[in-house]
Amino acid sequence: MQPSICALTPVFGVKIKNIDLSQKLNCGIIDKLKEAFEEHSLLLFPKQYITDEAHVAFTEHFGVSERPRKSFGSYHHKPNINVVINYDKEGNLYKANEPRARFRKGQRMWHTDGSYKSIPSIASILRACIVPPEGGHTQFASLRAAWNGLSKEDQNRFQNRTAVHHYAHSRRQMNIKFLSDEEAKKFPPVRHPMMRANPINGKKALYVSSYAAYIEGEDKTESCKELEMLLRFAGQKRFAYDHKWQVGDLVMYDNRSCLHRATPYPIDKYPRILRRTNIADNHPTMKNNILNAL
Ligand SMILES: [Fe+2]
Repeated sequence: MQPSICALTPVFGVKIKNIDLSQKLNCGIIDKLKEAFEEHSLLLFPKQYITDEAHVAFTEHFGVSERPRKSFGSYHHKPNINVVINYDKEGNLYKANEPRARFRKGQRMWHTDGSYKSIPSIASILRACIVPPEGGHTQFASLRAAWNGLSKEDQNRFQNRTAVHHYAHSRRQMNIKFLSDEEAKKFPPVRHPMMRANPINGKKALYVSSYAAYIEGEDKTESCKELEMLLRFAGQKRFAYDHKWQVGDLVMYDNRSCLHRATPYPIDKYPRILRRTNIADNHPTMKNNILNAL
């Protein structure tokens, strides 16, 4: 049986049915999925009740699976799988105002996974295991649609600009210091081009994220405001897709051409578990892209 592919929105994303990701996929199907991924930026596979091993095996068709970083308030049970969870090992749900829950609020800002690293992930693959009955969606926005929506003048301006992305910048916006000195050293500010072109089809994307702190060579405060404005521009409804999770949904999204963010839900009322893998890139976005100090 051949997979069927249909559009999710007029601007990006496709839904893929007639495929079972727990089974070994042949080269023809993998090539088709790779092509769809490069073209549409987001692939939704509904009803995939698969194991972590199958999730990682699927990921590795597309590249090297990254080992997740242990982030604040989360824990993971297996290498290569990042578990997004809202309860502790004893099964107690996080309280709404405790630091672990507040830390999750960072995921409610538009971002691309890993843009605070010199080599951001190419893609992320999220699988819904437990979903709340209300809220807890993931919204995605097309950075290609955002690029195409800019004026010619802005495109010319941002075409060769560089933005400095910093993990601490995003966390500062939450008004809480979650960054240990060790983490701060581990994630120094990095430089990324504001326009990223897909290496296969050349499609251009406006590369912005809540990690982007300022535009190189411009006034830091003013360019920070401009980046915030660009982020709001990119996240507007006409470029976005709101995904209400069903258990078994698996979504693969391109971090070079998509923003995403989580929507709120009663974190202290309902359990929610998503499991994620990330596909590593093999080169930085530009030469000399690690800065020593912000
Ligand atoms: Fe994310």
